[in-house]
Amino acid sequence: MSMIEIKNLWKEYGDQVVLEQINNQVKSGEFVTIVGASGCGKTTFLKMLLGTESPSRGQILLDGTAIKDEPDESRGIVFQRYSVFPHMTVIQNVMLARELEASPLHGRLFGAARNNAKREAENMLEAVGLSHAKNKYPHELSGGMQQRLALAQSLIKKPRILLLDEPFGALDPGIRADMHKLVLSLWREHKLTVFMITHDIKEGFFLGTRLWVFDKDRYDPHAPNAYGAQITYDLPVGKTDAEVWQQIDKSLKKANDFVENA
Ligand SMILES: Nc1ncnc2c1ncn2[C@@H]1O[C@H](COP(=O)(O)OP(=O)(O)O)[C@@H](O)[C@H]1O
Ligand SMILES: [Mg+2]
Repeated sequence: MSMIEIKNLWKEYGDQVVLEQINNQVKSGEFVTIVGASGCGKTTFLKMLLGTESPSRGQILLDGTAIKDEPDESRGIVFQRYSVFPHMTVIQNVMLARELEASPLHGRLFGAARNNAKREAENMLEAVGLSHAKNKYPHELSGGMQQRLALAQSLIKKPRILLLDEPFGALDPGIRADMHKLVLSLWREHKLTVFMITHDIKEGFFLGTRLWVFDKDRYDPHAPNAYGAQITYDLPVGKTDAEVWQQIDKSLKKANDFVENA
């Protein structure tokens, strides 16, 4: 069974149809990259997966159950620019994500639970390559380091699904190559299902096992809001299922070569 089933999904804001009649399925472990013109509804789609926006019609099923219109720990998101608490250090920011999840009312843990959270946060910072910066404050971090922090905050909650909204769009090409390497290794390590919006189709082909193009099939110049975008192309990039993990290894190797030759 598919992990995610999108059934006759529509999203409208007032009389503007943003997305129309989307039907698709995604299996656990896939890495779906999404491209499409600015304003065509990519972020809106991701927000419906997250649960901060709800469909106007249709639904998205996760393991056969409609996604509720509130986020939960199964899904984590990283935006292009991330907001962190500026008065807290890197490790405090990661621990807070963990503490808020464990103790939503107080956002604090004590004793052994706190030590556990600290150890988990340290491991996560190690995984994203930020151990050396754990006592720095957000304003002391480069753009790439901030996105590493955002990934750590998201992944410490152990989501199965990672949603990435142009996470590397603001980074320099060399730093982006490092982040590609990181995101592929996190995908493998944490057995994630990833949806990633990018404005760079090369990045989409490079990272994804599957690439979706969002576009309007129908367009009326006299009523530009009348029709919404659909998934007009659904291109397999790698193979799925058993072969998916081989693809990851290949992608990782490609990423490594790319970084070495950059
Ligand atoms: N909360 C909202 N209220 C009204 N319109 C919105 C809202 N969010 C997005 N839109 C509109 O929906 C369309 C799609 O936006 P978005 O999903 O952000 O596009 P993309 O991420 O593809 O650039 C845009 O025209 C945008 O103005
Ligand atoms: Mg967007």
